[in-house]
Amino acid sequence: ITKLEKYRPALHFSPKKNWMNDPNGLVFFKGEYHLFYQHNPHGSTWGPMHWGHAVSKDLIVWDELEIALHPDENGTIFSGSIVVDWNNTTGFFNEEPGLVAIFTHHSEPDHGKEAVQTQSLAYSIDKGRSWIKYDGNPVLAHPTNPDFRDPKVFWHKDTQKWMMALATGQTISFYSSPNLKDWQFESEFGENCGCHKGVWECPDLFELPIDNTNDKKWVLIVSIGDNPQYDEGSRTQYFVGSFDGKEFTPEHEDIKWLDYGKDNYAGVSFSDIPEADGRRIYLGWMSNWRYANQVPTEGWRSQMTLPRELELREKMGEYYLVQHLVRELDTYFDRKEERTDTIITDKESTVFEVDHEYTEIILSFKNINANKYGLRIEHTDSQHTTITIDAKENILSLSREKSGVVDFSDIFPKLQRVCLEDSHSLELRIIVDSASLELFINGGEQALTSLIFPDKVSKRICLFAEEGKVNLVYGKVSVPSKS
Ligand code: FRU
Repeated sequence: ITKLEKYRPALHFSPKKNWMNDPNGLVFFKGEYHLFYQHNPHGSTWGPMHWGHAVSKDLIVWDELEIALHPDENGTIFSGSIVVDWNNTTGFFNEEPGLVAIFTHHSEPDHGKEAVQTQSLAYSIDKGRSWIKYDGNPVLAHPTNPDFRDPKVFWHKDTQKWMMALATGQTISFYSSPNLKDWQFESEFGENCGCHKGVWECPDLFELPIDNTNDKKWVLIVSIGDNPQYDEGSRTQYFVGSFDGKEFTPEHEDIKWLDYGKDNYAGVSFSDIPEADGRRIYLGWMSNWRYANQVPTEGWRSQMTLPRELELREKMGEYYLVQHLVRELDTYFDRKEERTDTIITDKESTVFEVDHEYTEIILSFKNINANKYGLRIEHTDSQHTTITIDAKENILSLSREKSGVVDFSDIFPKLQRVCLEDSHSLELRIIVDSASLELFINGGEQALTSLIFPDKVSKRICLFAEEGKVNLVYGKVSVPSKS
């Protein structure tokens, strides 16, 4: 991992050149994790979409390969997914199973006609290195709906069919198929649930065990597009419920946010991770449609979140997602400094010195007897990002107003907030990379993902308390490992 240019992340995937948005076709196959992504090879802003491609053995170091899918007579290549066709249901393969991509063909509005979006197939017999488009494309079209995109496909064991979750305006529609070529409509979900402040995009549907028991629930992730009327820009919600191969039935109507930061969008999970591993691993696009085209990088734009393992927890009859960074990340860090039982007051601040390409901060607070407390990540003498916990209001807020370049968007410098559940103790894990910060609260019960554009990653980290004191039970700062 080497730092090449200003803001180039060391730990996060970013394209060598040009524009990137959504992760696509996340799949594990023959020892490799594949990351495809929305990509414009002609410039560093959004444009005619292709699928870029990278592979990794450990989800952290990625090797960028050739562009996988180029536009054709059916349109440009919007988001979609990839599955391993183990049983050759498509007839595309001979002895060896291979990969099938199910993606949206998008054609721009033409002569007063609306945009057309259809679903198409491509397959690979050489571990994703080259792709053949199916000659029967498109395989799924809609006569009237212009928002008909982002197919996420998986094998549904109980019905022995492929299932597709598709974004269809402000709903998600489910389709089934025996062979990925012939699709049947099953149901439409979402009219009366969740957040409808923007178009629904990039669904993902999967089953997870509850608290590592044998009980399971289904999780439906839905991204919500930018709507200029609201300050949040684009963001991601999820639903917990059941799915019988036809319909998704939620346990709730309220909104559950996957992330409380502004910069985690269009995320989906990997397909075909072996059962022996059993993890549900998620990657998001670390940006926001409100300002994605304006962020101050040069020659390339956007990065992915770090890969996160998703788990489902039950608390007082409610289910919610918990996110952990994948364990593969651990070997990229060495412990630099540790503290135990340190009283933080408003008189003297506690400081960790760090001056590295990237940093991990773990903090655990107890005996909170201050109005406010938190930490300031000092990037340079004049640039910092501040995380403040208002112990009275029980709100954690992240301020990036002074974090470096912020003036490319009105909403970028605004506070990002999380309502905390418990005011007596708090555990934070933070990864700071060249242009981002990912914060996990209380073992990943809440997450906040935020871009920042400082001149340097960090110099020092200062802990503070206002009007009172708090006990830092444990604090650890880690820096890049030598190996
Ligand atoms: C989400 C999205 C998708 C679409 C793609 C186009 O960010 O708008 O709905 O397929 O990006 O690049």
